[in-house]
Amino acid sequence: MLGIETSCDETAAAIVRREADGSGAILANVVRSQLDLHRAYGGVVPEIAARAHIDLLDAAIKQAMDEAGLGYEALGGIAATAGPGLVGGLIVGVTTGKALALGLGIPFLAINHLEAHALTAGLTDGLRFPYLLLLVSGGHTQLLIVKDVGSYERLGTTLDDALGEAFDKAAKLLGLDYPGGPAVEDAARRGRTQIPLPRPMLGRPEPHFSLAGLKTALRQEAMARAPLSEQDVADLCLSFQEAVAEVLSDRTALAMELYSDRLGAGAQRALVVAGGVAANQRLKSALAQVAAAQGFRLVVPPPALCTDNAAMIAWAGAERLARGLVDDLAAPSRARWPLDPDAPPALGAGVKA
Ligand code: KG4
Ligand code: ZN
Repeated sequence: MLGIETSCDETAAAIVRREADGSGAILANVVRSQLDLHRAYGGVVPEIAARAHIDLLDAAIKQAMDEAGLGYEALGGIAATAGPGLVGGLIVGVTTGKALALGLGIPFLAINHLEAHALTAGLTDGLRFPYLLLLVSGGHTQLLIVKDVGSYERLGTTLDDALGEAFDKAAKLLGLDYPGGPAVEDAARRGRTQIPLPRPMLGRPEPHFSLAGLKTALRQEAMARAPLSEQDVADLCLSFQEAVAEVLSDRTALAMELYSDRLGAGAQRALVVAGGVAANQRLKSALAQVAAAQGFRLVVPPPALCTDNAAMIAWAGAERLARGLVDDLAAPSRARWPLDPDAPPALGAGVKA
């Protein structure tokens, strides 16, 4: 299966093989980051991203085929991210995937990017269904029960900013580099004093998140101390990260309880963490503690497969093809595409997911 990922600022192509026993192997995994094109703007510029995907995608696909040592006749299908994401980029990947599938006479698979994140643990760890997924990246913050391919129940989401986005905005207002997550984590290591910050949503009966208020409180604390010394920045980063860790632990623990209520005591207890924020050591250790306390196994795929990549797209395509879930060439690109369309709307201002 050839996978194509163009939903945000990574142009990626990968080849994955799925065996009849349900195991998988990555034959090539090419990711061309556009970070340098967007850095000056402190975030991803959709039009720049779409144009860069046009420039980079063909070469990324060729490189993946070369690294896998395969000719196109060896492919059994083409999977491309069809949403959710920036629609200009999605159109580039979907159109390229459809053209290849049509030319080669093989199935096309329109992949939901969130589903690809959700299924990655099957590829990396051979994990079977069901499990609880915490997806935390620059664009998504969700707690989901993964029951099977195509069967998801959303337990929680963010009412405003995604978790990674909150890190990026925190970094920006403290004068740190983009992407902000690694910069904030690094500065937090030098923090000595914690400044009190709010813990939004702590103890609420649904495992939703809200991060806008925390960001505003951080801004106010920063303004009160301006001009900021390096130590001030470190202390603010530490305080922000500790607030996030506490909220994340609380929300995830609640989702674990709901998971066990829904699926019964006999269901496999595993928590999968995916998305760029899963690289954060402090948050990972907080989650490990929660998992241990609730008797859940913690599964964190390797960083390169937690962040956006095309191997996960190819794997989702292979899983779907194995179940006969193919798409036709009319499949649209979708800026929004919830994994659980039946989830009740999370009430709050500026709901994104
Ligand atoms: O999954 P990803 O590579 O791309 C998508 O957003 O889909 O995630 C990138 C996000 C960025 O917001 C980045 O700041 C955040 O993940 N991130 C981190 C860390 N490394 C990356 N957040 C907190 N701590 C980190 N160490
Ligand atoms: Zn993603």
